[in-house]
Amino acid sequence: MVINPVKGTHDIIAEEANIYSGIEYDCRIVAELFGFQEIRTPIIEHTPLFLRSVGESSDIVTKEMYTFDDKGGRSLTLRPELTAGVMRSIVSNKLYANADLPLKYFYFGPCFRYERPQAGRYRQFHQFGVELVGATSYLQDAEVIILGKRILDSLGLEKVKVSINSLGDDLSRENYRKALKEYFSKNIDSMCEDCKRRLEINPLRILDCKVPEDRPIIEKAPKMSDYLSDAARVHYENVVEALKKVGIEVEQDDTLVRGLDYYTGIVFEFHMAEKDDVGAIGGGGHYKNLLAEIGGPDLEGVGLSFGLERLYYVFQQVNGPQTMDIGPDFFIMAMGEEEIELSFTLADILRSNGYAIEMNYETKSFKSLFKVAERKHAKFAIIIGEEEMTKNQLSVKNLKTQEQTVVKTDDMLMVFKSLLEDYMQDLEKKSLEENK
Ligand code: HAM
Repeated sequence: MVINPVKGTHDIIAEEANIYSGIEYDCRIVAELFGFQEIRTPIIEHTPLFLRSVGESSDIVTKEMYTFDDKGGRSLTLRPELTAGVMRSIVSNKLYANADLPLKYFYFGPCFRYERPQAGRYRQFHQFGVELVGATSYLQDAEVIILGKRILDSLGLEKVKVSINSLGDDLSRENYRKALKEYFSKNIDSMCEDCKRRLEINPLRILDCKVPEDRPIIEKAPKMSDYLSDAARVHYENVVEALKKVGIEVEQDDTLVRGLDYYTGIVFEFHMAEKDDVGAIGGGGHYKNLLAEIGGPDLEGVGLSFGLERLYYVFQQVNGPQTMDIGPDFFIMAMGEEEIELSFTLADILRSNGYAIEMNYETKSFKSLFKVAERKHAKFAIIIGEEEMTKNQLSVKNLKTQEQTVVKTDDMLMVFKSLLEDYMQDLEKKSLEENK
């Protein structure tokens, strides 16, 4: 019986995995430039963590969580996102005690949501994100958005739309919630079952409803901007102004509420400006009460996450299919059984000295071995035949220029070093000429 991958999961293989690593590398470098350090938290957490943070009115909690009882009868959940786990870790490890605030962490890792799989939407996907906890200034909200934008810039994804909104402070939200409740109560009979439930738990969530028949009612609903307190409005304007100062134009979007309950104040999303066919590539916002709600001190936070599958998708769209030079430095071609045995030892010596080596394990024709070496994008072939064995030497062929040299086996480490240096210099020269 063939066992298929679980629906909504996918394998990331070889060259694709290399590109993911490249994207992750850029995320890491930029996060470190902004003073963030890595944090790694478990994939499973106690279910109440997500009920209290992501929120009981969110689609994630009501419909999408992978929740199960373990053998000890504890309800555990595969994390649908990483912010909650990072907050839990800050509390569990008292990371706020004796630390210079704000705490600044970045993370990578798989997340699980039982969603309907489609382009850019998986049931297991990966996020990169940052959390800044102990935020005291609007500048920190702005800085997290700048960090997100700089990551996209470094990936060559300059043409992005940054949408931003403010969900206001506690007072603004309370007034807005009341206004929404009043408005939707009048229309709720014709709306979907989810909205009926949302009206009771959190009317703000109705704004996120994707049911087409509900949209006209939602579009006429009261706007958050009319309910912002003066303090919340000034904070919002300051963030937009700070972003403008560093050349980031944002689109103020009154309907942006985001799908998680923990946000207060600024929320934002990144979309591709031209071909927005996978939805948000990243998003985040400010959370005032999250840490306290899960038993920590009263520290405000702000963070963002990117979906790595979506970053990979748009990266390929914008930069074209990527081919990475991941071939071995040397492919050893051994012509007979004895030669194969010698290659086996040579391969180990060369690998221990930092060279990437592949070899053949069965005798094959010269021609077919050359084809394999080329398909693997090897830089050089090392040929070991009868003559090389008796004379204690190796023939080395540059597979780009076809130049061949004979090297004494005892001298190979010294000679290979300079051969590879010349090879890389030629490559660099060529790419400079091509880019002229
Ligand atoms: P989120 O908007 O739920 O926010 O997810 C962040 C990003 O993860 C999305 O913009 C999207 O790129 C990606 N994503 C979400 N669901 C899927 C899926 N099913 N398949 C593929 N990619 C997906 C959060 O998770 C918050 N924790 C962000 C945050 C951090 N807020 C404050 N700090």
